[in-house]
This record gives sequence, structure tokens and C-alpha cells, in this order.
Amino acid sequence: MSYETIIVEIRDNVGLITFNRPDALNALSIALVGELADALRAMEKNSDVGAIVLTGSEKAFAAGADIKEMQSKSWPDTYVDDFITDGWEQVAACRKPVIAAVAGFALGGGCEIAMMCDFILAADTAQFGQPEIKIGVWPGAGGSQRLTRLVGKSKSMEMCLTGRMMGAEEAERVGLVSRIIPAAELVEEAVSTAQKIAVMSRPATMMVKDVVNRAYETTLAEGVRYERRMFQASFGTPDQREGMAAFVEKRKPVFGKS
Ligand code: CAA
Repeated sequence: MSYETIIVEIRDNVGLITFNRPDALNALSIALVGELADALRAMEKNSDVGAIVLTGSEKAFAAGADIKEMQSKSWPDTYVDDFITDGWEQVAACRKPVIAAVAGFALGGGCEIAMMCDFILAADTAQFGQPEIKIGVWPGAGGSQRLTRLVGKSKSMEMCLTGRMMGAEEAERVGLVSRIIPAAELVEEAVSTAQKIAVMSRPATMMVKDVVNRAYETTLAEGVRYERRMFQASFGTPDQREGMAAFVEKRKPVFGKS
């Protein structure tokens, strides 16, 4: 399928999705989010894809939901259509690992989409924020919840109440991003990181995502129990046999795609 608002490439077992609305700083229009969801679904079904990278431009990952598109909506419109749901939730629902490679602005829905990914690699130019308060609204794609879990109440409250942006260094210090990368190398580094994931056992990477995410959904005791049961289940996979045999035989493992 051809897309108008995103660019989709497959690079050595990695799906690369680039937001492509340069005139609007990649504002997340309904069309863009629909295409994003469609591309993610296709990559989930494509057995050649083992990990996915979402990125934007040098200037903006995405400057939020499209304000021009939503400004005239009424409350019944947004409620009945379940605005900011269709397509948006596909990012968090994706079962394959997804990396956000963020340069420039990741604001409002842009910050929220980045936080739905499994981890964020930030260019030194990255700016994160939930500035919705400045246009008379508040986060609607999970920002108030995910930002608070990631950086704590005090910083999340300050950012959501004032709309101030957080640069890459602060974002790394507080745990919002996993690493900072020079802007010129961001996409290559993100793809290369995704390639490292894509050659691992497919069920293992999907299970890691599942068990780590469980930490946000349940108590410590339940999470640990879930992890242990899933660890035990790994002994039912051919990749456990291959991975452990390869270690003992001092060779590289060759994992399957299922
Ligand atoms: N929606 C629609 N258009 C947007 C946009 C957005 N979120 N962000 C930027 N644009 C457009 C601008 O209107 C402008 O278009 P024109 O040239 O046609 O006027 C173009 O992108 C370039 O933007 P600026 O001229 O403003 O660029 P700048 O460098 O001076 O400022 C910025 C950059 C600080 C990011 C500024 O554009 C800005 O504040 N954008 C809005 C950020 C925002 O409020 N995001 C939250 C949206 S609401 C939301 O996301 C809800 C949710 O939780 C899902």
C-alpha cells in the first residue's frame, strides 16, 4: 500500500516508519495516525520484520495531534467518534518491539506516541513536552499517565501544568529516554539497535516486551509470578534449545522467526 503521510521501508528485518508531514511538523492528523496503524498492522503480519522504528524529521518527531483539524470539533463529536483512540492505540498494542527515534519536537500526541513505544532513543536536539494546557486542553493519548509513570509525579505535573519542554539531557537523566545520540546518527543507530533485536528469538523478544510491560499493570508479586511462568514456558521453544546449545558449542545461535 502507498502512503501519503508516512514513509515505510524495510531494512534487514527492521520496519522503519517515518512521519512525513514536513509542513506541519508531522502533526498527527487522523490520516497520518490511520496510515501509521495500517503500517504497524502490516509489519506485525510480516514475518521478515522483527522490530520496528518510528521516527520523524530532524526538526520534529511530531508536534502533537493536528490542532487545525480538531479545533472545530464539539464534545459530542469527540465522544461519539472516540477521538484520539482509533489508530493511536495500535502503537501500544503492537506486539513486536517498537523503538521511537526522536529528534526535534515530540510534543503532545508526539510525546505520547513516543512513550507508547518500548523505548526512546533521543537525538541531542530532542524536546519533549505536553503543551496541551497552552491551547486550553490536556493530554489525551495517555500522556498524563505514561509521563507520570516514567518521570514521576512532580516532573509530570510541572510539565503538564506549565507546558514546558524537556531537553534530551534532562529526559535521559529522569529516565524518559534510554540514550542520547548525535542527531546526524539517530536513525542509523535506531535501525542498528532494532536489527540487534530482530535477530534474537522472535518469541523471546515478544515475551520480553510482554513481561516488562506487565510491571505497569500489576503488583510486584503478580508480575514476578507471571515472569517466572513465562520463563518456564521458554523451555518449550526451539529457540531455547538453539540458544543454549550454541552457547555450549561456542557458536552463534540461529533463531527461527516463530
Ligand atoms: N497541529 C497542526 N499544525 C501544527 C502543529 C500541530 N500540533 N504544530 C505545528 N504546526 C504547524 C504550524 O501551524 C505551522 O504551519 P503554517 O506554516 O501553515 O503556519 C507549521 O507547523 C510550523 O510550525 P511553527 O511555525 O509554529 O514552527 P515553530 O518552529 O515556530 O514552533 C512549535 C514549533 C513550538 C512546535 C509550535 O509549532 C507549536 O507550539 N506547535 C503546537 C504544539 C502543541 O500544542 N501540541 C499539542 C497538540 S494537542 C495534542 O497533541 C492532544 C493530545 O494529547 C493527543
